[in-house]
Amino acid sequence: MNAVTPETTRVGIVGGGPAGLMLSHLLALAGIDSVVVEVRERAVIERTHRAGILERDSVRMLVDAGLDRVLRDGHEHRGIDLRFGGASHRVDFADLVGASTWLYPQTDVFLDLADARERDGGDVRWGVTDVEVSGVTRDPADRPVVAFTDAEGRRREVHCEVVVGSDGSRGTCRDLVPEASRRRSFREYPFAWFGILAQAPRTLDELVYARGPEGFVLVSSRTDEVQRMYVQCDPADRVEDWSDDRIWSTLQAGVAGDDGLALAEGPILERTVLPFRSFVQEPMRWGALVLAGDAAHTVPPTGAKGLNLALADVRVLAEALERTLLGDDADALDAYSARALERVWRTQHFSYWMTTLLHRLPGASAFDERRQLAELETLASSRAASTHLAECYTGWPTG
Ligand code: PHB
Repeated sequence: MNAVTPETTRVGIVGGGPAGLMLSHLLALAGIDSVVVEVRERAVIERTHRAGILERDSVRMLVDAGLDRVLRDGHEHRGIDLRFGGASHRVDFADLVGASTWLYPQTDVFLDLADARERDGGDVRWGVTDVEVSGVTRDPADRPVVAFTDAEGRRREVHCEVVVGSDGSRGTCRDLVPEASRRRSFREYPFAWFGILAQAPRTLDELVYARGPEGFVLVSSRTDEVQRMYVQCDPADRVEDWSDDRIWSTLQAGVAGDDGLALAEGPILERTVLPFRSFVQEPMRWGALVLAGDAAHTVPPTGAKGLNLALADVRVLAEALERTLLGDDADALDAYSARALERVWRTQHFSYWMTTLLHRLPGASAFDERRQLAELETLASSRAASTHLAECYTGWPTG
């Protein structure tokens, strides 16, 4: 085997999704070197469709970091259309909390970050294999090493001071924390989403969240010509189980109301079944390893919090790393986990709540069905209740 020439950097980042790239970008702005390794090719990530809603502070974070395409190509949403019982109820974020969200697909966030890293000479290794992280202990004298085989087949070793696991929900960094030192909390759900991309014009300018006769329906968008829509399905469903007719009739019935809303239909370009899960691993720091984004937590997709939460982790983490690595304030990194987890758990609660509020709960009693409807009615008719939704949906201020 060929000798490996060790390289050094301050922060080794495992995972080049939005969390890892944003962290690398913010560290670079602060003058801290990092190396990002990512098992996927850049082009593969660019083709991955994920939720497209940014909280107010996620937009602010992008813009403050010099990535302001969102202001030109994104769409500001000042509210959502909440539909149940055949009626539409607008939740007006601008009026209730003076904030908006932005429709700006995760693919675009990724592109902006990947382009910025490339433009600024950032060190991102795409398409690597056999990533192995070693030397992660609680002994400050130990230095972690991120070893991998690069896209040209050469074995590499990056020696660093801190390893950030931003390798997503299927990543392995979180397994580096010994079992006795970590706690994992899960929740499974008895439903999933059947998601489509359809070649069709936008029906409405804002998102529709509906509790229809068959359960949850969401109408979102990707571009002026491509719409993203979801209907509730069984987690065991396969894409073949849903004919085009069944998809469109479930969607149309889900949003139907006394205002006569009908969705524009068109050819279905893509179909996927999205499983639901809530997951948190605590703490988010152990020795020289820190976790960020989906590597530490998963939320069900209702409310589109996954990317926003990852960016919120990174905001706190970048600041903690700056203070630790530039200011010799070792306590700053210690505080990361507790600070990030506070928001993680609030977000877990919101995503769970919005999920259980709007889905048909298989096997629910008549009591539970009526209780769910009463909750929706309270939400739509009480300014205090709508304000709670607006506050959570647009994102708690990050200060
Ligand atoms: C999406 O655009 O894919 C999306 C939007 C809002 C959600 C979830 C997903 O709550």
